[in-house]
Amino acid sequence: MKRALCPGTFDPVTNGHLDIIERAAGLFDELVVAVALSADKGSGPLFGLDERCAFIRNATRHLPNVSVEPFDTLLVDLAQRLDAHVIIKGLRAVTDFEREFQMAQLNYRLDPDIETMFIMSIPEYAYLSSSAVKEIAKHGGDVRGLVPDEVCAALAERLKRPR
Ligand code: PNS
Repeated sequence: MKRALCPGTFDPVTNGHLDIIERAAGLFDELVVAVALSADKGSGPLFGLDERCAFIRNATRHLPNVSVEPFDTLLVDLAQRLDAHVIIKGLRAVTDFEREFQMAQLNYRLDPDIETMFIMSIPEYAYLSSSAVKEIAKHGGDVRGLVPDEVCAALAERLKRPR
């Protein structure tokens, strides 16, 4: 039984994340999408941990071997607890590389039995990020096709500007 973790903050999940999740789910018996609390990231996530998990659960209902797990520990601790030996990350443009390389090295140092593996994003999503989506939505731009419809609606609601 090969179980892998796909970790991230997912604030909110994008169609780029979902593409990586779907492709990773085809490679492993089980894929656990690990949603980090990430309370100290930037000015704090826009969506609460439960909301972020729900968006992913709703968008992955068609994938029976995918589950969603919130966490607020070291990623390697979660991997050990769930007996997962692979961490899957998506890699977009080269700009991702340095940060991902650092995280992979640190996680390897913390537990060399856990491998980090990367799935390259498809060109359509190479420049898509949760922060870009929030930025566009904040200014009233159209984010349909970049995130699930449910997330589009939640962004519009959350970022509603006072008239
Ligand atoms: O969506 P992100 O911000 O790229 O995800 C980063 C995440 C959540 C995978 C990373 O911050 C993480 O693993 N956090 C858990 C704490 C941890 O294990 N840190 C040490 C690894 S550098």
